[in-house]
Amino acid sequence: MQLTFRIWRQEQAQAKGSFKDYKVGELTEDMSFLEALDHLNEILVLQDESVIAFEYDCREGICGQCGVFINGRAHGPHSNISTCQLHLRSFKDGDTIVVEPWRAKAFPIIKDLIVDRSAFDRIIENGAYISAKTGTAPEANAILIGKAIADRAMDAAACIGCGACVATCKNSSAALFTAAKINHLNSLPQGKLEAHQRVLDMTTQMEVEGFGHCSFTGACEVECPEGISITNIAEMNARLFKAQILG
Ligand code: FES
Repeated sequence: MQLTFRIWRQEQAQAKGSFKDYKVGELTEDMSFLEALDHLNEILVLQDESVIAFEYDCREGICGQCGVFINGRAHGPHSNISTCQLHLRSFKDGDTIVVEPWRAKAFPIIKDLIVDRSAFDRIIENGAYISAKTGTAPEANAILIGKAIADRAMDAAACIGCGACVATCKNSSAALFTAAKINHLNSLPQGKLEAHQRVLDMTTQMEVEGFGHCSFTGACEVECPEGISITNIAEMNARLFKAQILG
């Protein structure tokens, strides 16, 4: 299988970037997309050229480190998977694949396909923790939580923080990410102590970081590798309204 990768190359944040084409052969449809980039980098090393910078860690759809725009879609042509879960069988022999970094004001490019997502870390720092003493695991399990609430919290907790929601949103909104983090903890009894402050602080930080507002297009839900529902955003807004009234 032979593919042409049209990849965004940018030396560093202030440098001017541009697309560069790489024709790559000896690929198989069973290779993952990241393995294809590895293969391309091995060729570049042999040619004494600078390798393409891209992020990954688990390569299993768990860590949220990978994430690029592929042919105009976050994480590629399929819904609800991460870039590391994409395989070359999704493309045809001879295809040209356009690969870009996430594009958002709050995610400045560091190099090539890597962006700085520390804005997410700062949102987390502003409330995604609990101060309630939960003790050891058996004690925590002794707190009975209704199945519907536990399921809702678990679904929100599935967010891997990859940033696809921001990258795919026409407003570069981080509403889905922030809502998932807030709803995960605010749903549970352990998270109730600072529930109002959490939603106030995390949504404020979201705005400070320069993310746009949510206009409910639903694009984030489609591209989210975990399929986090946009109903989380409505729930966050309801919690925010309540917190603003009650303080
Ligand atoms: S490398 Fe961990 S989710 Fe893709």
